[in-house]
Amino acid sequence: MSDSSYDVIVIGSGPGGYVCAIRAAQLGLKTACVERRATLGGTCLNIGCIPSKALLQASEKYEEAQHDLAAFGVKVGKVDLDLKAMMGHKDGVVKANTAGVEFLFKKNKIDWLKGSARIAAADTVEVTGDGGAKSHKTKAIVIASGSDVAPLAGVEIDEKKIVSSTGALDLPKVPKKLVVIGGGYIGLEMGSVWQRLGAEVTVVEFLDRILPGMDGEVSKHMQRILKKQGMTFKLGTKVTGAKPNAKGVALTLEPAKGGSAETVDADVVLLSIGRVPHIEGLGLADVGVAIDNRGRIVTDGHYATNVAGIYAIGDVIVGPMLAHKAEEEGVAVAELLAGQRGHVNYDAIPGVVYTWPEVAQVGRTEEQLKEDGVAYKAGKFPLTANGRARAMNATDGFVKILADAKTDKVLGVHILSAEAGTMIAEAALAMEFGASAEDIARTCHAHPTLNEAVKEAALAVDGRPLHI
Ligand code: FAD
Ligand code: NAI
Repeated sequence: MSDSSYDVIVIGSGPGGYVCAIRAAQLGLKTACVERRATLGGTCLNIGCIPSKALLQASEKYEEAQHDLAAFGVKVGKVDLDLKAMMGHKDGVVKANTAGVEFLFKKNKIDWLKGSARIAAADTVEVTGDGGAKSHKTKAIVIASGSDVAPLAGVEIDEKKIVSSTGALDLPKVPKKLVVIGGGYIGLEMGSVWQRLGAEVTVVEFLDRILPGMDGEVSKHMQRILKKQGMTFKLGTKVTGAKPNAKGVALTLEPAKGGSAETVDADVVLLSIGRVPHIEGLGLADVGVAIDNRGRIVTDGHYATNVAGIYAIGDVIVGPMLAHKAEEEGVAVAELLAGQRGHVNYDAIPGVVYTWPEVAQVGRTEEQLKEDGVAYKAGKFPLTANGRARAMNATDGFVKILADAKTDKVLGVHILSAEAGTMIAEAALAMEFGASAEDIARTCHAHPTLNEAVKEAALAVDGRPLHI
C-alpha cells in the first residue's frame, strides 16, 4: 500500500534537487523531495559552497586587517583571531541558507519526505526515516543524490587529523602545519583559508600543475601568486600513506613517476583529490539503472536514465561537479517533465575558484582549442592597467579572451582577478548569446570597473586595446 502519490519525487535536496523541486512545483506538478540530512540544501549549502565561502570571506577580512589596510591609510591596532566567532559566522550563514530552502519548500507546497530513499520500482520510492519505512507512488523520479569525497588508499579520513573538506570547515584550532593532498578547487580554497589564519600550508599535487581543468597560463600565474602568499607546492608528487601519531600525521610521499620516498609531518592533512558520485543505497541495480565506469548514472540528453520514469541530474551524472550546473539541470528536467523544452548549454558553464585573487573561466582553454585543432586569436589585458584595480590595490592578474580566428566568436574567457567570479558573468552571458569579441569590445562598460578589463581584452583580440 502506498502512503501517498506524486507527479515527481526528487531524491536529494542539494542545488540540483531543491531547484528541480521548486521548478516542478511552479509548473503545477505535485512534488516531493526526499532528504535524509537534518537540513535541506545538500552538500552545497551545508558542507560545501556556502560554508567555504563564509570562511574565505572571513579569513580574507582577517588577512586584510593584518596586512592590507595600512596601505589604504587605515591604521588598526593589534589584530586578533577569534576562530570561534568566525565559525559562528559560517554556521549562521549555513543556517540562514538551509532555512531559506525550507521556507521555499513550504511556499511552493513541496513535501519534504525526511529519510533515506530507495527506489523500489520505477514508480515507487521507499523512504526510511524516524517513523520507519513508507512507500510513495510517483509518475517520475529525479535522482539528485550528489557526490561524496573521493578516497585515497593509505589515507584514512577521521575528520580530526586527516580531514575531508567537511572537517576542514570545522577545525577547532589553526593547525601549525597543514598538508593538502590535491591542488584543485577544495585544496586551494581551504588551503587559503587556513594559511590566512596562520597555518603553514603545503599542497601535494599528483600532476605537474595545479588546477588541471583551468587554462594553463592562468594556473601557472595563480601558483606563483599563491607561492608569494606563502603556500608551498610539491607538484608531480603522490602520497603513498598518512599515519596519525601522537604529534599529528606522518605522510610518505613519492615522485608521481617513481623514485625515492620522503616523509613529511603535518598537524592536519586535508584529502581533496576530487569527488565521486553518491549512489549508495538507492537500489539502482535492483531496478536496472545503468552506471558508467566512473560510477555516474548514465542519462540521455533529456536526463532520462535507461529505465522509463527515472531521471538523474547534478553531481551524480556526467559533467562538472558544480552547484550552478546542477541547478540548471534541475530546472531543465522539471520543464521537460512538464512538457516544456528544458535545455542546458554546457558550453557556457562558468567555473570559479574563490581564492585571492579569484580564478574564473567559461568555455574552452587554450590547451583544449589546440587539442581540438581550432584556429583562435587571443586578447589579453593585465589588471595593472585597470584604474579600479589600482584603486583597490588588486592589480595581480589578467583577463584573456579566446575567439575563433575566422568568425571572431568567443570560445573561452579566462580571468585571474579580484572578483573574477562576478566578472565572469558578463562573459557567460556573451557566450550564451553567441557573441563575438567585437560585440564585447563595442559594449559600453561603466568606468571605473574591473569589467573594463574584459572589454580591453576583447579589444586586444583585434590588436587595439586602448589603455596599454
Ligand atoms: P548535493 O548537493 O551533493 O546534494 C545531494 C543530497 O542528496 C545530499 O543532501 C544527500 O544527503 C542527499 N541524498 C543522497 N542520497 C540520498 C538518499 N538515498 N536519500 C535521501 N537523501 C539522499 N560548487 C560550486 O558551484 N561553487 C562552489 O563554491 C562550490 N564549493 C564547494 C565547496 C566544497 C567544500 C564542496 C565539497 C563542494 C563545493 N561545490 C561548489 C560543489 C557543489 O557543492 C556540488 O556541485 C553540488 O552540491 C551538487 O549538487 P547536487 O544537487 O548534485 O548534490
Ligand atoms: P578537484 O578535481 O578540483 O581537484 C583534485 C586535485 O587533486 C586535482 O588537481 C588532481 O590532479 C589532484 N589529485 C588527484 N589524485 C591525486 C593524488 N592521488 N595525489 C595528489 N593529487 C591528486 O577536486 P576537489 O578539490 O576535491 O573538489 C571536488 C569538486 O568539488 C571540484 O572538482 C569541484 O567540482 C567542486 N568544488 C567546486 C568549488 C567551486 O566551484 N569554487 C569549490 C570546491 C569544490
